[in-house]
Amino acid sequence: MTYDKKTATNTFTVTDNSTGKSYDLPVIEGTVGPRVVDIRKFYADTGCFTYDPGFTSTGSCSSKITFIDGDEGILLHRGYPIDQLAENCDFLEVAYLLLFGDLPNKEQFAQFEHDITYHSMLHEQIQRFYSGFRRDAHPMAVSCGVVGALSAFYHDSLDFTDPYQRVVAETRLIAKMPTIVSWAYKYSIGQPFQYPRNNLTYAENFLHMMFAVPCEPYEVNPVLARAMNRILILHADHEQNASTSTVRLSGSSGANPFACLAAGIASLWGPSHGGANEAVLNMLMQIGSKDRVGEYVKRAKDKDDPFRLMGFGHRVYKNYDPRAKIMQQTCHEVFDELGIHDEPLLQIAMELEKIALEDDYFIEKKLYPNVDFYSGIIFRAMGIPTSMFTALFALARTTGWVAQWLEMIDDPELKIGRPRQLYIGQTQRDFIPMDKR
Ligand code: ACO
Repeated sequence: MTYDKKTATNTFTVTDNSTGKSYDLPVIEGTVGPRVVDIRKFYADTGCFTYDPGFTSTGSCSSKITFIDGDEGILLHRGYPIDQLAENCDFLEVAYLLLFGDLPNKEQFAQFEHDITYHSMLHEQIQRFYSGFRRDAHPMAVSCGVVGALSAFYHDSLDFTDPYQRVVAETRLIAKMPTIVSWAYKYSIGQPFQYPRNNLTYAENFLHMMFAVPCEPYEVNPVLARAMNRILILHADHEQNASTSTVRLSGSSGANPFACLAAGIASLWGPSHGGANEAVLNMLMQIGSKDRVGEYVKRAKDKDDPFRLMGFGHRVYKNYDPRAKIMQQTCHEVFDELGIHDEPLLQIAMELEKIALEDDYFIEKKLYPNVDFYSGIIFRAMGIPTSMFTALFALARTTGWVAQWLEMIDDPELKIGRPRQLYIGQTQRDFIPMDKR
């Protein structure tokens, strides 16, 4: 079931005990999920702001793209469960679904795939932009810089008010991200950039640009391409998380789409968000062997120790992250294909998961493995270096960011995002000249 515009169906009464006044706030119901209390007129009516650091109880927009039930461990894109999409779809089918609302038929898919494929080359001058970076620059720094710089190269798709320019920007961003990210890797290892190949799928093309060299033919391993396709789908969108909210907030001012996406990449980089996949692998290497897992679980539970189990816990999921389950299965498929049977990091990860899932601390706090827990181990097995993990996440999430940005632009309720605050600083005071301070 979907419906077009939100309607208040009920009210929620709050009473200000200092004045005894009561206020009826409209309650709006979505198609599924918690009801929301509409507080848009709250300040005008009551003179109070609401206070919600970290936005744990705040809906920032209405959306038809992704639904998460964190208690049940459910993730739906446009109504379709993530496991069905990951099992059956090409990544570009999911991209189409996120962008346009329905899965494409054969003709729609062929057209969309063609449009994406034929926009995957970068303006040749962007190569020179890469050479301005140090070779040891983090691929997220490079990706963030290059995506932001697209606004300096593609002037004909910056006007967000023009629907045609929006389509061009959307196509360019999704099409060029694999090229941008793989070139960040090639630059870091000093190999020549590989141009995209139009006969390959989105996932195959990315692997090709990462691992091919001009001196010999490169055959994409179909099992690895399937795994990459699935990983891209699992990371494609996740509702109003930090980076998506950053894209929306940046876009709410009318900033161009390339600048908004660069802001999203910057937000994703943090270790509490997309940077966690890199942090997981570093943590597994730090643990070093299966018999030290208990020691690290103990540290994670110690209030005086800042150590946390990376890849565990989630703001929304208070159950097993449905993406983590598929990731675990993909991990075993990749390892079987590559004939890796005793990878120590996988053994450590499985032991860690087992111990943590049985531990009262993790059970009580509802801390389960999240999507990042297994992705790093798979990437490593594929030959992708740790520093590239979050950039790969950014590549996959670009579709979600673009879909959310487009939805926001079309929303008649769009306003520039402008949160308020609880001010706890000095009240007004008079200036004191320096010699009297
Ligand atoms: N290890 C140990 N303890 C943890 C962990 C963890 N990974 N995660 C949360 N906790 C504890 C906290 O110490 C806190 O305990 P307290 O109530 O006694 O103070 C409680 O569980 C709740 O944690 P919060 O940090 O308040 O929960 P929040 O929703 O703000 O944070 C987050 C969620 C950031 C994901 C957190 O679980 C974490 O840091 N996890 C590790 C990093 C990670 O894997 N991030 C990836 C998230 S998925 C993604 O972005 C794609």
